[in-house]
Amino acid sequence: MSERSSEISGFYRLSVEERRRVVREWGGLTEEEVRAYEFPPGVDPALLGRMIENVVGVFPLPVGIATHFRVNARDYLVPMAIEEPSVVAAASNAAKVARLQGGFTAQTTAPVMIGQVQILDVIDPAAARLRLLAEKDRLLAAANAKDPMLVKFGGGARDLEVRILPSPRGTMVVAHLLVDARDAGGMNAVNTMCEALAPEMARIAGGRVVLRIISNLAVHRLARATATFPAAALATETASGPEVVEAILDAYTLALVDPFRCATHNKGIMNGISSVVVATGNDFRAIESGAHTYAAFRGQDGGVVRPLTTYEKDRAGNLVGTIELPIAVGLIGGATAVHPTAKANVKLLGVRSAHELAGVLAAVGLAQNFAALRALATEGIQRGHMELHARNIAATAGARPDEVDRVVARLIDEHAIRIDRAREIVEEIRRGHGG
Ligand code: MEV
Repeated sequence: MSERSSEISGFYRLSVEERRRVVREWGGLTEEEVRAYEFPPGVDPALLGRMIENVVGVFPLPVGIATHFRVNARDYLVPMAIEEPSVVAAASNAAKVARLQGGFTAQTTAPVMIGQVQILDVIDPAAARLRLLAEKDRLLAAANAKDPMLVKFGGGARDLEVRILPSPRGTMVVAHLLVDARDAGGMNAVNTMCEALAPEMARIAGGRVVLRIISNLAVHRLARATATFPAAALATETASGPEVVEAILDAYTLALVDPFRCATHNKGIMNGISSVVVATGNDFRAIESGAHTYAAFRGQDGGVVRPLTTYEKDRAGNLVGTIELPIAVGLIGGATAVHPTAKANVKLLGVRSAHELAGVLAAVGLAQNFAALRALATEGIQRGHMELHARNIAATAGARPDEVDRVVARLIDEHAIRIDRAREIVEEIRRGHGG
């Protein structure tokens, strides 16, 4: 057989059907396997074809709804798009506990994004910095002239900062254009402004410009949330509420002092945040990158990467959690404005501004983290996971809906969550001597 070549010129010119034929042949996919790419009803293939290139189909993720969320005295049903079991249930449970004390309180800073302009070969960086700052008003006005709509809606270029960075390729002058993006993610506005200002900045600084691009480390566009989780609600069969609070504080503290734990701690936070970011059609890579870089950035104070949450005890011994991270999400533009499922999710969520969405996201991140720490500090994470896993195995083994619970219970009891055992149990139940 001759070696397959991925060099397929003009693939982008083919219709979806033609592309499917190509990939089917190339990958040896069956008719049924190719059908997995099919567009569900209500999703316009032409729309998806305009979103990215070389489209062959869709990859449907489940959307689950987290319940019990109350943020700033308003109730929300929160759509989450994620492939991982337990995340939606855990968020809902945490929101239920937070609700006992009024739910989450969220706040956001102004939606100010940073655009970077990198200027090289400047012979007098310190003086160049002052020359750029002296021209600030004129530069901001030129930036704003590029986006009158943003200005009309109350946003626009707000400030200029100039940093001087030593580097292996010589000193770099890096100008930061601070832009209030209002309800947009801000990428297009910021990049356009930076590209427009670059020649003038190069002239003023006396250097040459290379990069002109938004920074995902959106340190000025932060979302914060806090909630109190009452100790009394945390008691388990084997541990009192105060004991669970202490165990959660122990678990949290490892993330504070150890980057290996911190990575997993913050991953759990992003389970919640990213799934809502995906469900609302926002750029989850931007949010992830911003969150993890912020954790490292904050870590500079303490020497290690920092957890995005904190936990303390209040005077009554209840657990108080907080979260802070950059959340640059938009409600206008991008997939949020065109993707039918994203549009439905945003409507269901009922958020009226990007601020409000960022506040809900912060609350979801805190809820998700609290749920993980609570599970880890008490029964461990596996029990819940195993039950869901056992459900999947039972269904795959052919258990009918009325049989699933019994099969799951047996699999867990026997510590044998395996398809072969599940099949045997189904047979035993049907022969009348199971469970
Ligand atoms: C799994 O997706 C997330 C957790 O590992 C988070 C954590 O350990 O805090 C449970």
